[in-house]
Amino acid sequence: MSIKTEAKNEFDALPSKLVGRAASFRKAIADLPSIARSDAPVLICGETGTGKELIARAIHYLGSRSKFPFVPINCGAFSENLLEDELFGHERGAFTDARQQRVGLIAQADGGTVFLDEVDSLPFKAQVDLLRVLQEETLRAIGSNFERRIDVQIVSATNVPLDQLLQRGDFRQDLYYRLAVFAVHLPPLRERREDIMPLAHHFLGKHTPPTKTPMQLSAEALSALEGCVWPGNVRELENAIIRGIHLARSSTIQLSELRLDPTSQTQIRTDAEHWQPDISDTRPLVVLKRQLVEGFERRYLSHLLACHEGNVSRVAKAAGKERRDMGRLLQKYRLDPRSFRPAPQDFSS
Ligand SMILES: Nc1ncnc2c1ncn2[C@@H]1O[C@H](COP(=O)(O)OP(=O)(O)OP(=O)(O)O)[C@@H](O)[C@H]1O
Ligand SMILES: [Mg+2]
Repeated sequence: MSIKTEAKNEFDALPSKLVGRAASFRKAIADLPSIARSDAPVLICGETGTGKELIARAIHYLGSRSKFPFVPINCGAFSENLLEDELFGHERGAFTDARQQRVGLIAQADGGTVFLDEVDSLPFKAQVDLLRVLQEETLRAIGSNFERRIDVQIVSATNVPLDQLLQRGDFRQDLYYRLAVFAVHLPPLRERREDIMPLAHHFLGKHTPPTKTPMQLSAEALSALEGCVWPGNVRELENAIIRGIHLARSSTIQLSELRLDPTSQTQIRTDAEHWQPDISDTRPLVVLKRQLVEGFERRYLSHLLACHEGNVSRVAKAAGKERRDMGRLLQKYRLDPRSFRPAPQDFSS
């Protein structure tokens, strides 16, 4: 094996749960191993359900901090005072109800990773205190006279573009630049449609109870999944698959059994059955026909690859083609059989 292949393996060794072969997704996660080896703060941006928490866990479990705690804190879930107490803890007698000392979540994560979810809703006072933690690497509990040294990697996430908050003055610029030494931008699912099928198969495997026969999706169901806009992104897709698994009357999940949200379904279809005349489209028939056939071939091959877990010989046999010809076809559509193979193991909780 060449050194080049070895280097690529680092990417392949990323947690099995990170399914996705779209160039934009691969680009977003390409630096994760290096980020995990550093102690530098990371800001993960992306719409709801794009996998921000999963990426935060990947950073934690890929690095040497994995033996220490991963502590998630939802900054939007607490009032200002409660959040300070959660983050920093307090000494006994620090305020009227403080009958016991309380160790804050940042201190609990010592040696590990603090995941600040919805960091955009961090109140101003907490922003100042957090800045201190980042600058000095020390922590002072509420009512304490002492600072303790703290060793944590801070990973934050937001689905609000932080530059908007910066412009409005709702988020401290100095804190922003401290939090975003590394920035990971997760693309929405509608911008990486080639990931819909592998993700759907991943969730089928993940959520089908071991006692049940392996499930598959009907061609119509797959086609509809690929046509959705997915405002709830990967989470919305995962929920559809869970519904399908539990509502299906056979081992093949039908479109109606996914109970798709009608507002999530779009007109983006390339198959002949759904073709609509469009007078503004003046391309010649030969071009339109090629586009339709290529769209069909791509989906057909992805489906077979998913069914045969990336085994090209079996895919060729199922399609009635020579293995070598199948290899060429897969190359044409840039379909990588490796991304359809079952994941080696589940790494995070
Ligand atoms: N690339 C992926 N591969 C496999 N599973 C994924 C991927 N991306 C997201 N998921 C799954 O989708 C679900 C939603 O992901 P996650 O909770 O990380 O999203 P999020 O961006 O934190 O969402 P929110 O902003 O709503 O908190 C989880 O079950 C997660 O495991
Ligand atoms: Mg989340």
